[in-house]
Amino acid sequence: MSFSYQIKDLSQYKEAYKKSVEDPEGFWSAIANEFIWRKKWDRVLEWNFKKPEIKWFVNAKLNITENCIDRWAETQPNTIALLWEANDPAEPSRSITYRKLLFEVCRFANVLKNNGVKKGDRVCIYMPMIPELMIGILACARIGAIHSVVFGGFSAQSIRDRINDASCSLVLTADGGYRGAKQIPLKEIMDVALRDDTAVKKVIVFKRTGVSVSMQPGRDIWWHDELKKMDDLQSFECTAETMDAEDILFILYTSGSTGKPKGVVLTCGGYMVYTNYTFINVFQYKPRQIFFCTADIGWITGHSYIIYGPLSAGATTTMFEGIPTWPDSGRFWEVVDKHKVNILYTAPTAIRSLMAHGLDPVKDKKLDSLQVIGTVGEPINEEAWHWYHDHIGKKKCPVVDTWWQTETGGIMISNLAGITPQIPSFATLPLPGIQPVLMDENGKIIRGSDAAENALANGKKDTSELLTGNLCIKFPWPGMLRTTYGDHERCRLNYFTSYPGFYFTGDGCFMDTNGNYRITGRVDDVLNVSGHRIGTAEIENAIDMEPGVIESAVVGFPHEIKGQGIYAFVIHAEGKIDEDAARKKIIGAVTLVIGVIAKPDKIQFVAGLPKTRSGKIMRRILRKIAEGETENLGDTSTLLDPSVVEEIRNGKI
Ligand code: PRX
Repeated sequence: MSFSYQIKDLSQYKEAYKKSVEDPEGFWSAIANEFIWRKKWDRVLEWNFKKPEIKWFVNAKLNITENCIDRWAETQPNTIALLWEANDPAEPSRSITYRKLLFEVCRFANVLKNNGVKKGDRVCIYMPMIPELMIGILACARIGAIHSVVFGGFSAQSIRDRINDASCSLVLTADGGYRGAKQIPLKEIMDVALRDDTAVKKVIVFKRTGVSVSMQPGRDIWWHDELKKMDDLQSFECTAETMDAEDILFILYTSGSTGKPKGVVLTCGGYMVYTNYTFINVFQYKPRQIFFCTADIGWITGHSYIIYGPLSAGATTTMFEGIPTWPDSGRFWEVVDKHKVNILYTAPTAIRSLMAHGLDPVKDKKLDSLQVIGTVGEPINEEAWHWYHDHIGKKKCPVVDTWWQTETGGIMISNLAGITPQIPSFATLPLPGIQPVLMDENGKIIRGSDAAENALANGKKDTSELLTGNLCIKFPWPGMLRTTYGDHERCRLNYFTSYPGFYFTGDGCFMDTNGNYRITGRVDDVLNVSGHRIGTAEIENAIDMEPGVIESAVVGFPHEIKGQGIYAFVIHAEGKIDEDAARKKIIGAVTLVIGVIAKPDKIQFVAGLPKTRSGKIMRRILRKIAEGETENLGDTSTLLDPSVVEEIRNGKI
C-alpha cells in the first residue's frame, strides 16, 4: 500500500511544513484519517504546555494492533512482517508473515488474559532480541495492557526499581539470552530483582538458551506450556481491546539529570500516527522494502522503528539478536546481504566501532540492496558520516541523520531520504508538524525558522554564535510524551518549566543560515554513552553506595568510539588505598546497581572536589579536566578551596 501523505519532493515538503504550522489540526487529521479507528475523534487537539496537558484525537477509539497487524493480515497476509536473524550465524533465521503474526499475537494475548492480565495492567518485559519479544509487546497492546520493556543490560536493582515504579503484575522473560560469545542469565537476574516484595504475580519464561533456571512454584511458568494450553483450547483468536486514543500504550524508563529514571508515557493514538508518518517520510519507505533497524527493543528506537513504525506501514522489519562485532565485525553487513536489506538504521557508535576495524570486513560484502541508510541516538561526527556514506551507502544512498528522544516518540528533525538536502553532522530540518526554536539562557527565542536570513540581512557574516542555543519545541506533536508515570509534577518540572510554555529537549543546538539544525549534545547532566542515555546523578548514587566512598562526581569526556566516556572523580575515606582494587569494586558496584552500560571508563581518586561556597560541585571544571583541557579552567575564584583543582589536575589519568 502506498500512503497519500508520503512526501515526494522538496516542494511537497515545503508545502506540508507550511500547512502543518498554519493548520496543525487539519494537517494531522488528514493523516490520521487513513488509519483504522473504532471511532473517530471529536477534536483533533487539546493542549496546554503549562500544566502540561496534551491530548490528540480526543475521544477517538482504536487498537494499534489492528493497524499494525490485522489490516495487513487481510490485505497482504503472506508479506513477511518480521525477519529475524539469530546471534549465531549458523542458527536458521526465522520469518513471520502478517497472517502468522496475527495468529501468534492473538494466541499469546490469550495466554496473558488466562494469567489474569487485564486492560491497564502493567507488564514488565525483560527479554532477548527474539521474535517472542515482539509478540509479547504486541499481545499486551492487543488486550490494552501497558508494556514496560527493560533493556537486557540493566541490573537486577534497575529492573526492580522499574517494576516497582509501575507496579507491574506480570513479567515476561527468558531463561537466558545470547549476545555475541556471551550468555546473559536473564531469569537469574530477574529472580534477584523479584527477591523482595513486588506486585508481580506471574513470570512467564521463554526457553531460549536452555540454561537451567529455578522456577518458583505458583509464580513462574513456561511460555511453551502456556501456549500448549491455548493450543489445547484452540484459543487462537483474540478480539482487540477498544482503547481510547489517550490510553497509555507503554511506559519506557529513561534517565534525566536528577533522581531515578522516569517512566515516559506514550499513548495509543498519537504515537501510532506519529511513528507511522515519520517512518514513511524520513526513510521514504516503499512497499516491499526490507527495513533493518539495529537498535535494541529495550530502547525507544526499537519500539518505534523495529515495531510500531514499520508494522503500521505493512513493511518487513528485521530484528537482529546479536552484536555488530561477533563472530566478526562484518556481521551487520552480512545480515544486510543475506536479507537484502533496503533501508538500514543504526547508531553512530556502531559505525565508529566498525570503522575502527578497517575496510576488510566490508570488502567482500555486496551491500547493493541498500537504498537508504540512517543514524540515530547521538551526534555523528563528519568522519563517521563520510565512512558510512562512502563505504556502506556506496555514495549512492541518502544518509538520514535523525534527531529525536524517548520523550518525542518518533523522529523530529531529520532530512527526508533523497528529498531534502543532507549535510554531514546536521540533522537538518524539522519534520512537518514540528516547530523547534532556539532559546538563549534567558529564555529569549534566538531563532524562529526565518531568523537566520534576518541576521544576514542585518549585516552579520558569522551567525554561528548568534544561532547557538538550547533546543525547545513550541507546539505539540502527536507522538510526544503525556506524563511521567505516577508523577506528573516531575514531567512538568523536567520538560516544561525551564522555558515556560515550551517543551525543553535538554539538547544544545546550532542552526545554520538555511535553518538547518545541528544538535551538539546534552546541556544537562545526562551522558550519552554509546547512544545509551545515563544520568550522572544515577552513576554517582551507585558509586557512593560502595563502602569507603565519601563522595563522587561524574562527568563525560569525548570518547572516540562511544561518543562520550564516563569519568568519575571519587573521594575515598581511607587515605592510602590500593587504587586498582578500589576501582574494580566501584565498577562492580555500578554494574550491580545500574548495569554494565554505566561502568566508568576512568576513575580518579581525589582528596576533594571543586565546590562553590554553597556546596555545589563545579562540574564545568571537572569536565574540562576530564577532556584533557588543563590550562583554561576559567574562573575558579568562587571555589571554597581553589587548591583542590591543582591536585585534581595533577592526578589526571
Ligand atoms: O542528545 C540527544 C541524542 O540522544 C538524546 C535522546 O536519547 P534517548 O531518549 O535515549 O533516545 C535516543 C534515540 C532516539 C537526545 O536528547 N540524540 C538522539 N539523536 C541524535 C542525538 N544527538 C544528535 N544527533 C542525533 N541524530
